[in-house]
Amino acid sequence: MKHPEIEKRIKELLSKMTLEEKVGQLHQSGGSLVGAFDLTFEEIMTMVEDGRITEEEGRKMLSNAKHDWHEDDLRAGRIGSYLNVIGAEEMNRLQRIAVEETRLGIPLINGFDVIHGFRTIAPIPLAESCAWEPDLWQRTARMSAEEASAAGVHMTFSPMVDVSKDPRWGRIAESAGEDAMLNGLYGEAKVKGYQTNDLTRHDALAACVKHFAAYGAAEGGRDYNRVDMSPQRFEEEYLPSYERAVKAGARAVMPAFNDLSGVPCSVNKKLLTDILRKRWGFDGMTISDANAIAECINHGIAADRKDAARQALNAGMDVDMTSGCFLDHVKELVEAGEVSMDKLDEAVKNILRLKFELGLFVDPYRSNAEQEKAAILTPAHLALAREAAQKSMVLLKNDGLLPLKAGLRIGLAGKLAFERDEMCGTWAGNYQAGDCKSVQDGLDTEGISYQAVTEDHPLPDCDVFLCAIGERKAESGEAASRASLELTKEDIALLKRLKESGKPVVAVVFAGRPLCLGPAVECADAILMAWHPGAEAGPAILDILFGRVNPSAKLTASFPAATGQCPTLYYDHIHTGRPAGKFKYTSKYLDAPVEPLFPFGFGLSYTSYQYTDISAVQTEKGIHAEITVQNIGERDGNEIVQCFFRDPVAQRVRPVRKLAAFEKVALQPGESKRIAFDIPKAALGYYDQDMNFVIDDGLIEIHIGGNVRDTLQADVHFIQK
Ligand code: GLC
Repeated sequence: MKHPEIEKRIKELLSKMTLEEKVGQLHQSGGSLVGAFDLTFEEIMTMVEDGRITEEEGRKMLSNAKHDWHEDDLRAGRIGSYLNVIGAEEMNRLQRIAVEETRLGIPLINGFDVIHGFRTIAPIPLAESCAWEPDLWQRTARMSAEEASAAGVHMTFSPMVDVSKDPRWGRIAESAGEDAMLNGLYGEAKVKGYQTNDLTRHDALAACVKHFAAYGAAEGGRDYNRVDMSPQRFEEEYLPSYERAVKAGARAVMPAFNDLSGVPCSVNKKLLTDILRKRWGFDGMTISDANAIAECINHGIAADRKDAARQALNAGMDVDMTSGCFLDHVKELVEAGEVSMDKLDEAVKNILRLKFELGLFVDPYRSNAEQEKAAILTPAHLALAREAAQKSMVLLKNDGLLPLKAGLRIGLAGKLAFERDEMCGTWAGNYQAGDCKSVQDGLDTEGISYQAVTEDHPLPDCDVFLCAIGERKAESGEAASRASLELTKEDIALLKRLKESGKPVVAVVFAGRPLCLGPAVECADAILMAWHPGAEAGPAILDILFGRVNPSAKLTASFPAATGQCPTLYYDHIHTGRPAGKFKYTSKYLDAPVEPLFPFGFGLSYTSYQYTDISAVQTEKGIHAEITVQNIGERDGNEIVQCFFRDPVAQRVRPVRKLAAFEKVALQPGESKRIAFDIPKAALGYYDQDMNFVIDDGLIEIHIGGNVRDTLQADVHFIQK
């Protein structure tokens, strides 16, 4: 929302700016480029491995090593923002050049990928989404903002709200899973947590919603691949999560690398102007993904860098992240009339607006070294990271083995049980080696003795095996698509070896995505999906395994029985004309089930819940549904009650289930609660063949339960007056 005083100051400043200075504001330089930052070769290669930079950027950095070339650009007013500058003092040093040594003293913005923590690493987003708890998501965002802002960061390239229905795609790790509503709520909570309601606060971070749009629908689950879908599906299933995050007040949006039905998002006017600006009224800043403008040449849309710059700016892109296309060509494009001065001014205004909103013209030096040191890895932050991990881990199987009794002799198996740095997952901010606590650390801290299982020795004599399996952080995240989601041969062999011992086995699965856990189901008596759980991995896992915490998390992404089920694995699939059945000629596989191994919304507890007395009625506003949930076990717990609906007869095929609402409810042993949901009429709507938004009269099925598969049903004859 525009503030008159800020708009006035933008206008005044713009009137003084030269064409070169305007173009300089559009250029974001890779702050981590070596030279002023003395990055070592190893640090650069780590950034490539972590996916924080591309290999191309890594090569460029190495070739420019030790040249302070970008500081001269900064003094000349050719840089408007940085990414990846780390440290309050480094940022203040660059800021001082911008504010005190350039002609107009326009301050810089520093952006960084604070995706699930800055130094205190929280569970990866896909894990945290399984808490189904917006308040938690907001609190961990606040924690991230307190740490990152103290370290000189002004904007985070987060929240990522790409609906991800294909676990072959490595970036599902950064999402809130396969459902549009959950991704939208996740994004909204993160925006509020990062920004607060006062961006001028020194501990506020501007949020950047990404990747706009539908990046998670990459064909084949292969990163950066094409996205092609009907406008109806785009509007119904992929656009809503970005809309919710933008309308939560996010001040920046990052278009995605992919094309959308043939037009790369970086040059997609329909997205960046018609939807984002005109339909949603967004007045923040758009910023390209890294090098994405230049990559429109690869897409086959731009003839050269100048053409890419022209198309991106005219489509509604404000900032060019590191490609240099804007810096190199916008001046001549404006002089040649291929980009209007008005269009350029619009982009510069959007950038200046965010700088004013952040208060950077008033106080450009928002932090210092001692504030930075005081803000990170505080006991409160570590406690929150542990809480988030406890609430994110999903109990997938428990044949009564868990919770473990104290005093059991433990055999600790699987390399990942001893690994600290694998616990942080992809996009782990400014994580420093050793920051995370492993399972081994957890046991050591509690003084619980264990014997390590090694390949070349007989199995130790113990009462129970803890077996860590899954994927390393580098196998997850950007540019980490997998053609197979099966467990590794080593993991399967280890599980079998442990099972053959006849001793009970707990499998603890570390991963940034759903995996095919069939062998774990066969060999383990209990399975805990720990994801990449962050700083307090080990302690949180033991909190659950020893019963100090009753697991409550539920899956936000379906787990495949076989990789070949992708990408049709997701819960909100359609029925088809020949739904899978015993008859040959039905929609199924010869060599795999059609059902997921673990369905959307699934998760076990150390207690049990009983659902009874479902009801549903039409109301003025939509549908009111109720159900009674009772804790029929011996322990208190938190149950995530999920309310789905189905429109069985419509003008286009509709999903067999669609999440309409949910509630996380605390129940003491024996306690019952009547849970009510109000589904707004609009939630029932969809687009017909002519893109008219329609809501049908007729039967609406309501399904409520503890996951998408195990529900009670009530029907409503929905008749609009
Ligand atoms: C990366 C990612 C994007 C990230 C940006 C800056 O390539 O696609 O999510 O924010 O570059 O690191």
